[in-house]
Amino acid sequence: MSRALFTATALAAASLCAASPAAAKTAFDGVWLFDKAPPMPGVTMMEVRSKGAKIEGHVTTLWYGPIEMMNPRIQDGRLLFEARNINDRDHPTRPWSVSLDKGQAHLKGRIWASEVDTQGYRGTTKDAKARTFRFTALPPLGQPIPGKLATTPPMGWSSWNKFAEHIDDRTVRAMADAMVSTGLRDAGYLYINIDDGWQGKRDANDMLQPNEKFPDMKALTAYVHSKGLKIGIYSSQGPRTCAGYEGSYGHVAQDAKSFADWGFDYLKYDLCSGEWFYADADRVKRSYHEMGAALQATGRDILFSLCEYGRFDVGSWGRDVGGQLWRTTGDITDDYETMTKIGFDKNGNPAHAGPHGWNDPDMLEIGNGGMSAAEYRTHMTLWAMSAAPLMMGHDLRETSAETLALLTNRRVIAVDQDARGVQGKAVRKQGALEVWAKPLADGRVALALFNRGAESASLELTAADAGFSSVTQVEDLWSGATAAILPTSYTVPAHGAVMIAVKGQ
Ligand code: GLA
Repeated sequence: MSRALFTATALAAASLCAASPAAAKTAFDGVWLFDKAPPMPGVTMMEVRSKGAKIEGHVTTLWYGPIEMMNPRIQDGRLLFEARNINDRDHPTRPWSVSLDKGQAHLKGRIWASEVDTQGYRGTTKDAKARTFRFTALPPLGQPIPGKLATTPPMGWSSWNKFAEHIDDRTVRAMADAMVSTGLRDAGYLYINIDDGWQGKRDANDMLQPNEKFPDMKALTAYVHSKGLKIGIYSSQGPRTCAGYEGSYGHVAQDAKSFADWGFDYLKYDLCSGEWFYADADRVKRSYHEMGAALQATGRDILFSLCEYGRFDVGSWGRDVGGQLWRTTGDITDDYETMTKIGFDKNGNPAHAGPHGWNDPDMLEIGNGGMSAAEYRTHMTLWAMSAAPLMMGHDLRETSAETLALLTNRRVIAVDQDARGVQGKAVRKQGALEVWAKPLADGRVALALFNRGAESASLELTAADAGFSSVTQVEDLWSGATAAILPTSYTVPAHGAVMIAVKGQ
């Protein structure tokens, strides 16, 4: 737009709003307050300032703090600008607009998955002060934090896959009870983890309080502990968690202390809105180290689970920031396609896994009903072969005999929990079939045969698959049957898996 035209339209826009302050250069100048914007990103305010032809401004949000207006300009009586976008490579910025109507500002734009289309009203500088986002400086990266927890991959249960935000004190207690009564605890599942959705607001001292569904966190952790179990909690380094609850931004040490004081043993720390503030490897790493160090400073043993979806080669630095497990992927869902995409291809670099630090391909979906028995067996086999954390994600009260058998097979769990801590990997691929190997502490090698195809298929396993020249004993890990030699071939059902351990030389 030419300068002359710009000025003319700016003046036209200014004349639209007689109520604008005398100092305003455009009709949009000043503070606008939004009370009814969609929760994500939670627009609370817009501030616009203009000096001659130069317009500046930002939209303040609960998720991302102030979003700067890029290239703000007046066109046809509207204020147009671009805003940085997130998680969308095709649209690193998005066009936004503001129009004025009867003294209200109509703000429209899109960020990530959220459409903003909302009306705001004029506010004062006092309002602006109250709604100004408080930035917090990220400390420099501290020394690597020595790992001592999680000698083997953590095992337990998490609320997210089944309950999402619909989780409360009563359900968590019920899961602890069911963990014991089903025998899952005695099979090794130890953690009862509350995922997103427990958070309330901060009190006058900025202490984060649980919401009304969790009336007494100390009593809850004591209850879970009384069952011989441990208990976990969830937060984010961003101002908002992925489900939009209060995050730990600006309150990292304070929240770590609360989690420790309440008696938690595990923290899942999910990047969520923090990805806006910590958008590169250095800052993501520092943001995890900040919490890792804060947890360490509490003096309580709190397992630290990093959830940043596998970005920035997290496995290469997850341990240094105090993590015992780090997600290698986006979220799992209860279907074969997603589960196998993650389990086969996004389960992390085996070189990074070992005692005190594990690749986390996300929680289990076994028991949630979206996969067949053969597919769930593949799920469990893949996770065990990958030395993955085994965090169940179904309603433990509704554990069928079939599900229980999959989750509590001692031989399969022993492969996952093997003291050598090696993450298994594919050693041979043949069409839809994959052979995986995982060396075990007792000198045996676990082998898994996966059929990713839609038809049942047969394949021969050889001593060479296990790195041996000959095999002296074979144990079928799912059935417990043993034999002295490998069978001529294995038939694997569609989407199914066979899992054995071989002794050899
Ligand atoms: C992200 C995580 C999930 C879960 C949700 C909670 O999507 O990856 O595992 O914690 O947030 O909102």
